[in-house]
Amino acid sequence: MKVLVTGGLGFIGSHTVVELLDNGYEVVVVDALYNSSIDVADKIKEITGKDFELYIDDVTNEEKMDEIFAKEKPDAVIHFAAYKAVGESVQKPIMYYKNNLLSTLTLCNVMQKYNCKKIVFSSSATVYGDPEVLPITEECKVGGTTNPYGTTKLMNEKILKDITIADKDFSVVILRYFNPIGAHKSGLIGEKPNGIPNNLMPYIVRVASGELPELSIFGNDYPTHDGTGVRDYIHVVDLAKGHLKAIEHAVPGIDYFNLGTGKGYSVLDMVNAFEKVNGVKVPYKIVERRPGDIATCYADPSKAEKVLGWKAELGLDEMMRDSYNFILKCKEDK
Ligand code: UFG
Repeated sequence: MKVLVTGGLGFIGSHTVVELLDNGYEVVVVDALYNSSIDVADKIKEITGKDFELYIDDVTNEEKMDEIFAKEKPDAVIHFAAYKAVGESVQKPIMYYKNNLLSTLTLCNVMQKYNCKKIVFSSSATVYGDPEVLPITEECKVGGTTNPYGTTKLMNEKILKDITIADKDFSVVILRYFNPIGAHKSGLIGEKPNGIPNNLMPYIVRVASGELPELSIFGNDYPTHDGTGVRDYIHVVDLAKGHLKAIEHAVPGIDYFNLGTGKGYSVLDMVNAFEKVNGVKVPYKIVERRPGDIATCYADPSKAEKVLGWKAELGLDEMMRDSYNFILKCKEDK
């Protein structure tokens, strides 16, 4: 089967391309390099020993996408390409809505034209807003997103649902990720945000490696076991494997799956685990809460296990080890 992966050089995309190649899929990547680097393509080839087609193009460019589909004739699509910085989305809503919605619309239009009717969409637990019940199941209410980035995920889910209503042959699998961290065990690919990281794990590794002085923990007065925010962190390799299961499962209509571990860890739990596994100190200070943050968020991932036969296998120790290993390797290569 030939799978077209948009955003295939990004953090989750690159790990998914590795899993696809390792499992015998033919892969076509379309990536505009907005938040990724061309070197990732060589690293993927180094890890897998396999080649794939790469187009450096923007998914919103319908003419280009048409050409790519005409030439490649993919059987299915995994759609990662999107802007993803929560804070930036508040500053630049038009840019976020335009890019994140137009890319899906363009893609689906071209897919229909070329009779490619299977898509896995990269969504987020952010669509649940501040959850009313925990753990979060797929039946929980969606909405109440607190920033344009999150709202684009929700709107994309709705667009895809409407397409399945109008076109009974269209298969959509929505994957709602919890908090992906970690890196490939080779240390060749991982998460390398440009500038100062917004997310916890990229920040911790930069402090541990001496590039940033200390971590700011956003609030210690949440109603959690130690007052700091609780999240469901999932190893990116586990997450990547979930996409293969989703592609294999896709049937006409739309289905939604939480991809998480079902376990919640606080910010302090994460700092402690990181220090223990890697034997390095992560200096921190407690600061004000970050606006828009919720206290606790973790998945009930049992539907993915029951229906897709997928379950996260890697634990916190591997996530900590692999995240740090990737950053150390990046430093060595400089
Ligand atoms: N945190 C800190 N200090 C930091 C960064 C984060 O204390 O420097 C805390 C946050 O307050 C939160 C936890 O660490 O309690 C996790 O924060 P992240 O920014 O890593 O992740 P979020 O849960 O806020 O958001 C992530 C993704 C979103 C996605 C969401 C889904 O960034 O894209 O998960 O729930 F929408």
